[in-house]
Amino acid sequence: MLNFEDEVAVSPIPGLGLQAVRGFMPASSASAGGRQERAQPEAAPAASADELRRIRVEDKRIINGRTDVNQLVPFKYKWAWEKYLSACANHWMPQEINMSRDIATWKDPNGLTEDERRIITRNLGFFVTADSLAANNIVLGTYRHISAPECRQYLLRQAFEEAIHTHAYQYIVESLGLDEGEVFNAYHEIGSIRAKDEFLIPFIDTLTDPAFKTGTPAADQQLLKSLIVFACIMEGLFFYVGFTQILAMGRQNKMTGAAEQYQYILRDESMHCNFGIDLINQIKMENPHLWTPAFREEIQGYMKTAVELEYRYAEDTMPRGVLGLNAPMFKEYLRYIANRRCQQIGVDQFYPGASNPFPWMSEMTDLKKERNFFETRVIEYQTGGALSWD
Ligand SMILES: [Fe+2]
Ligand SMILES: [Fe+2]
Repeated sequence: MLNFEDEVAVSPIPGLGLQAVRGFMPASSASAGGRQERAQPEAAPAASADELRRIRVEDKRIINGRTDVNQLVPFKYKWAWEKYLSACANHWMPQEINMSRDIATWKDPNGLTEDERRIITRNLGFFVTADSLAANNIVLGTYRHISAPECRQYLLRQAFEEAIHTHAYQYIVESLGLDEGEVFNAYHEIGSIRAKDEFLIPFIDTLTDPAFKTGTPAADQQLLKSLIVFACIMEGLFFYVGFTQILAMGRQNKMTGAAEQYQYILRDESMHCNFGIDLINQIKMENPHLWTPAFREEIQGYMKTAVELEYRYAEDTMPRGVLGLNAPMFKEYLRYIANRRCQQIGVDQFYPGASNPFPWMSEMTDLKKERNFFETRVIEYQTGGALSWD
């Protein structure tokens, strides 16, 4: 396998702009299998019969797989491909949503209370950088450690959706004329936001470290831990106070443009979370030795910390009751969500009897784009054709 640190001369394949590199396995699987091969300065030697064998479904693996990651089919992980198709069917862009009412409300000194304004600026303060963290985690981390091309295909779509989310938050900041320096630096300057990001960053750093490779039980557990933190805590818990607050505002007919953007983001994020959970469960099935009692206990510990951090964020963003919400309601909600995430990945729940105080939030995740898109969309984006050759 070619190591990108190595200085090697390679022979280009004429006309393809590709380099003659033998072996297309992810780095971890090549090294784990002891099949490291250096690209040769001359024409590559003939491939062995083993290398030429066509891909068999039964040989595919989510991690440490040794099949060619460039061949999407034969499908093994149909659920990942289905999610990729659904995600594409849900495509949306931030500029399609009319923000003019929000702008008028924001500019009107009586349009919103101080507490409502605080919710909006704190919300954007967390989300404007959170989705960049998410995108970097996928592109620079997760993607290269996953050896199933169906899952990589979904991750590519997910990475683009994270870019759309960052775009949406920036679009709201720009539309309302907020202080960009203040909003974009909130993750350094606001304690409750910074604490959430500081919790996440070590897990992201693990995956994005160029020296990190899977292939040993310890490294595979590290990867699994980071995947769980990303899907079940970042996307599956840390977004939920913020989403609930803005959607509650929309339900009261305030900041409806921002609320509509958040609705589409919530729909995307619930799919990201579900994909992550399927990925985690599939890795568990293929690698049962990773799922030890000590490992599960560690995950519970992270969940507890995450509930506390998100609750602290709820208190900071809502020092008083606002919009029919208050921080204590979120204690119950976060416990309910943490139970659900634990149950989804097979970890024992530890908040017995927690119930959902916001059942309307579940309906939001099933939003159909067509329901209101055609009433509110303001811009047609180009989907094809219209090339001029003059
Ligand atoms: Fe996102
Ligand atoms: Fe996401």
